Amino acid sequence: MTQLNVVEIKKKPNPILFDAMPISGPLVDRFGRVHSDLRLSVTDRCNLRCIYCMPEEGLECLPRENILRFEEIATLAQACFDLGIDTVRLTGGEPLVRKGIENLIKLLDEIGFKDIALTTNGILLPKVANLLKEAGLKRINLSLDSLIEERFSSIRRRGELKLVLNAIETSLQVGFNPVKVNCVVMSGVNDDEILDILEFGRKKGVIIRFIEFMPVDASGLFKPALQLSAEGILNRISERYDFVKVGDAKDAEPAERFRFLDVDLEFGVIGSMSRSFCSTCNRLRLTADGAFRNCLFATDEVTVREMLRNGASQKDLEMMIRRTVWGKRRDHGSDDGNVERPNRSMSMVGG
Ligand code: GTP
Ligand code: 5AD
Ligand code: SF4
Ligand code: SF4
Repeated sequence: MTQLNVVEIKKKPNPILFDAMPISGPLVDRFGRVHSDLRLSVTDRCNLRCIYCMPEEGLECLPRENILRFEEIATLAQACFDLGIDTVRLTGGEPLVRKGIENLIKLLDEIGFKDIALTTNGILLPKVANLLKEAGLKRINLSLDSLIEERFSSIRRRGELKLVLNAIETSLQVGFNPVKVNCVVMSGVNDDEILDILEFGRKKGVIIRFIEFMPVDASGLFKPALQLSAEGILNRISERYDFVKVGDAKDAEPAERFRFLDVDLEFGVIGSMSRSFCSTCNRLRLTADGAFRNCLFATDEVTVREMLRNGASQKDLEMMIRRTVWGKRRDHGSDDGNVERPNRSMSMVGG
């Protein structure tokens, strides 16, 4: 009798047929999603060490010589703009630790992006807020995970609650509109503050957005038990407030949007895991060291740093961008529905 060998058959992803990729027209991927948004991580460094993002010590920074110069970032941004990308967001790490960030905003404004936004922890904002506004920044997203000082310190490990509260005030005074405030909800850590944080948003007139904890942290803290789903978050909110849904998570914004019935204000829930919004994803990402990524959860990426430094032609950049978009997977960087940890953590991709 013939002995049969038992071999492990690994499911291979379908090959990507680049022959079918359009070489003109909108930036479309294999699933028909047109891309129009670029998130630029300008540094992987940060002045905080949030438990859902970074370890307290030991996370190595990217080598300085690999960090793209503003002109290099602007070259890639221009190439994206020429292909229909019309909104851009600066992220980090913490984008404001990068000196002279207003100069990058000016370059992006000159390119003609219709929306230039910033995601920041706010610590360094008050000193530069006016400069950023004058340079062309339109919108700002801050983060606030607790209103209790000691808890703020245990979640964010550095910085101070009052500095973040001050940054929220400054954002309103300077006239960024809207001001959104992100809160990563962790069960047993800060989920008992959902209603208080929402009440704070109502008093200040800022849009609070609760975010499901995603497995993209470099701290290794993530475990499913720490996640509170979008549904769980909404159930808590409905204990105190009446609200209606006014928008689904879709291209322009990953949050499902809700409006209070008693005040003219919205809040949002970002259910990246339980109510993923990948089917309408329009986002591309460039990391601080010049990796061009088609998904937050991508397990691969294209290094464009050398292309940008060696004066790549417009055509070469266009084909690189088109191929990156075409190669994007259906969701969460995984075609079979299982979420793999991305090859870079949050602070190195920029959320
Ligand atoms: P708006 O344009 O104001 O809606 O900004 P935003 O929500 O896209 O940006 P922000 O940096 O404030 O991100 C808020 C949360 O949404 C963060 O936890 C991000 O990681 C998450 N997020 C943003 N874009 C994506 C995305 O494409 N995929 C996933 N899974 N999460 C995202
Ligand atoms: N899961 C969900 N959101 C996260 N952020 C950082 N790490 C995580 C995570 N593991 C959020 C921050 C910030 C935005 C850029 O991403 O709170 O608001
Ligand atoms: Fe820094 Fe933002 Fe990460 Fe917190 S979430 S450690 S503020 S990059
Ligand atoms: Fe887009 Fe990837 Fe985020 Fe899904 S997980 S919305 S595909 S970036």
